[in-house]
Amino acid sequence: MAVPIHQQRVLSGMRPTGLLHLGHYHGVLKNWIELQHQYECLFFAADWHALTTHYADSANIEENSWEMVIDWLAAGVNPGSASIFFQSQVPEHAELHLLLSMITPLGWLERVPSFKDQQVKLKEKDLSTYGFLGYPLLQSADILIYRAGLVPVGEDQVAHVELTREVARRFNHIYGKEPGFEEKAEAAVKKMGKKQSKLYKQLRIRFQEQGDHEALETARSLLEEQQNITLIDRERLFGYLEGGGKIILPEPHSLLTKASKMPGLDGQKMSKSYANTISLRESPGDVENKLKKMPTDPARVRLTDPGDPEKCPVWQMHEVYSDEETKDWVIKGCKSAGIGCLECKGPIIDAVKNELRPIQERAKEFTENKTLVKNIIAEGKEKASDLAQDTLKEVRQAIGISYR
Ligand code: TRP
Ligand code: SF4
Repeated sequence: MAVPIHQQRVLSGMRPTGLLHLGHYHGVLKNWIELQHQYECLFFAADWHALTTHYADSANIEENSWEMVIDWLAAGVNPGSASIFFQSQVPEHAELHLLLSMITPLGWLERVPSFKDQQVKLKEKDLSTYGFLGYPLLQSADILIYRAGLVPVGEDQVAHVELTREVARRFNHIYGKEPGFEEKAEAAVKKMGKKQSKLYKQLRIRFQEQGDHEALETARSLLEEQQNITLIDRERLFGYLEGGGKIILPEPHSLLTKASKMPGLDGQKMSKSYANTISLRESPGDVENKLKKMPTDPARVRLTDPGDPEKCPVWQMHEVYSDEETKDWVIKGCKSAGIGCLECKGPIIDAVKNELRPIQERAKEFTENKTLVKNIIAEGKEKASDLAQDTLKEVRQAIGISYR
C-alpha cells in the first residue's frame, strides 16, 4: 500500500527542561538524527507545554528553549534536513487547539493516564487547571497542524498520539462529510434490520461520545457478519462508525522510541529529577569524577571480592558503549576479582569523553554565535508557519468560518 505523502512527515516536540543529558542523546536525539535522513522532519521546543506545569515559575523557559535547541544542533540535528522552531512562535498551534477543544469530549481528556498520574506525582503544584487538562489536546494540535504521519515518542506519550487519532477522526467526521453521506449511511443502517441497526447505533454512540474502543471493535465485527447489505453500504458504515467522508486531518501514527538503555549514575533511569545525569555539556573532568564515584556491585567491598556485573550499573554502561571484547574482559575480570572497579570504569570514561568531545565543540560554536542559532530558528519557524497556515485554511473552510 502506498503511503500518502503527508504520512512521510515526522513531527516531534520536547519540553524545554534545561541542558540535555546522555539519556536524551541515546533515547531521543540519535533517533531524530536517523529520521531526518529518511523523512521531512519538524522538531520544536514545546514551551507552551512547559507552561502547563511551570506557569508559576516560567522565568527559565526561554533560556531553556535556546539551550535545548543548541544541544539538538550540537548532537547532530541538521537544520538542512529538519525544521527547528519554538512552539509559541507558531500561534497556529493555538488556534487549532481552540477549534479542536470545541469537539473534544471532556471525558477523553480526563481519561488520559498522564492527567491523573502527573497530578499525583507533582502534588506540590496545583494542576487542576484548564491548561493542564488540555495538555494532550495541545499536543494533538501540534501534530495535526502539520498533518504529520509519524510521531516519534516514548512509551509515556503513546496515549497522547492515540487521543490525537480519535480527535482527528471526530473532526473529519463532523466537518469532512461528503454531500449526502449521512443520509446514505443512515439508509444503510436501516437495511441491517431492526435489532442489528439498533445495536450498531448504540455502539457507534458509545465509541464516538465516550471513545469506547471495545464498542468500536464490536461494531466492526457486527458489520463483518452482515449478510444483507451491499459492499458499498458496508464500507459506508465502517466510515460512519469512525467518521468517514473527507479527511481533513489525517490520523498520525506513533513511532515508539525504544527506551534508552543509558542508566543514570545511580543505576536508575537517567533523569534530571533523580540528579543522576551526565549532561551533554559536562566537562571531561566532571565526566571522569562522576563516573569514578558511580556505585558498583555492593558485594565488591574489597578488590579481592568477586562481583557480578548484573548487579552493577557500570555494566549497563558497558552494554551501551563497549564492544564484545571489552565486555568479555569486564565479565571475567569482575567475577574473578581480576580487575578493580576503577579499572573497569576506564573504557567507559574514555567512551563518554570521546562521544561528548565533538558534541561540545559544536555546542561551543553555537553558543558563541547566537545569530546563527537565531537564523536557524527563524527559518524553521518560517517553514512550519507555511505548513500550519495551509492546514488552518482548510480547517476554517471545513468548519465554515473562512470569510472569503
Ligand atoms: N508531551 C511531549 C513530552 O512531554 C512533548 C510534546 C509536545 C510532543 N507536543 C508534542 C511530542 C507533539 C510529540 C509531538 O515529551
Ligand atoms: Fe561493576 Fe566493573 Fe566493578 Fe564489576 S568490576 S562491580 S562490573 S565496576
